[in-house]
Amino acid sequence: MAPPRSTVWALDPHTRAKHAILRRYLQAWQVILPKGGFQEIAYFDGFAGPGSYSGGEDGSPIIALRIALGLPATPTRIRFVFVEKDARRVEALNTAVASLGTLPAHIDVQIVPSDFETAFADFVRPYEARRAPLPPTFAFIDPFGYSVPFSIVQKVLSYPSCEVLLNFMYEEINRFINPPKEKQQSGNLFEEEQPGPQTPASGRPALEARLDSFFGSVDWRVAIKSDVAAERNRLLHDLYSRQLKVRAAAKYVRSFQMKNDRDVTDYFLFFATKNRLGLQKMKEAMWRVDAGGEFTFSDATDPNQTVLFGEPTGDALRKQLVNRFAGTRATVAEVAEFVLAETAFRETHFKRVLKELEKATPPALSIVRAPAGRKSGTYASEDMLLEFTK
Ligand SMILES: C[S@@+](CC[C@H](N)C(=O)[O-])C[C@H]1O[C@@H](n2cnc3c(N)ncnc32)[C@H](O)[C@@H]1O
Repeated sequence: MAPPRSTVWALDPHTRAKHAILRRYLQAWQVILPKGGFQEIAYFDGFAGPGSYSGGEDGSPIIALRIALGLPATPTRIRFVFVEKDARRVEALNTAVASLGTLPAHIDVQIVPSDFETAFADFVRPYEARRAPLPPTFAFIDPFGYSVPFSIVQKVLSYPSCEVLLNFMYEEINRFINPPKEKQQSGNLFEEEQPGPQTPASGRPALEARLDSFFGSVDWRVAIKSDVAAERNRLLHDLYSRQLKVRAAAKYVRSFQMKNDRDVTDYFLFFATKNRLGLQKMKEAMWRVDAGGEFTFSDATDPNQTVLFGEPTGDALRKQLVNRFAGTRATVAEVAEFVLAETAFRETHFKRVLKELEKATPPALSIVRAPAGRKSGTYASEDMLLEFTK
């Protein structure tokens, strides 16, 4: 889908799913963070859009604001920074925010008619001038195409209290690799988000330069040489994930894949954070998405282990635990960390699997150290030591 030119556009099922995740995550985020005693927290919507869709559905800024309005007031100031480049959409967003009425004193909304990069630099400047840490900040990076240079994502993640949810529009990149016939000649697929006059105006070299900038690497050029679509998909996904981990030093990187009803990847959502609780809450949000028949929404960690959220965990987690730990000893805390950081599953899933392994004939798990009086099949103590059979 080419970026819409109109001020508002229709909400598609994939965006609806993205909003469901955003809503669930922000609900937890806005409840939990104020309890940490922070003076302020910030939701930074870098590609805010007009605030509503043509059918009247809320856009991401209004979703975020409604959550705050539905919660009791807190001593923590909640800062909402909505950045939108298009003047008509800024106007629509102003109207959408105004329609919510007078906002309580602890909610502060700033609509910034600018571009993401400039607005983020403006956002951090006063903190840096005071040598004060940034407040815990959730940055939602939701452009139409692949217009966001990796260096900006890196900049956002260079602040330890910032986390990022980024929409990687895989479909757009795929369209670049396999352009529709009628567009192939000009190569000008992204009229609306073309770079400014200072950069090459259009055509394949300009789009290639944008991809270099988007990935922060030229390695995508190797990845797209593969003739196998699934392999290209995987290589490009893995490249971005690696960049987040290695170049942006994000401690936890999770990715989620949205496929349409033709089984084609529409987008990946990348979540990058240094915060363990943030990761737990994001996974919780993912597991609650109700995909329905229009698309599938899965964890994107391992192409050989597709895990669909909402489905029973099956034996995928058992296989992953056995692969990782067979023949070794680990504490319950270590197993929990592995499950959280390296698999699609949640901490709530793995104890059931440990129990299955312990009760198997012959047992695939034995207990090396446990608190006195521990009941068989329970793993409440984090420093319990387990041994996984080879
Ligand atoms: C996919 S839409 C955002 C949708 C919105 N996040 C939502 O979920 O409702 C992308 C928006 O980013 C705006 N935009 C494009 N380039 C931008 C930039 N460099 N900085 C800020 N906004 C930009 C577009 O005008 C468009 O409204």
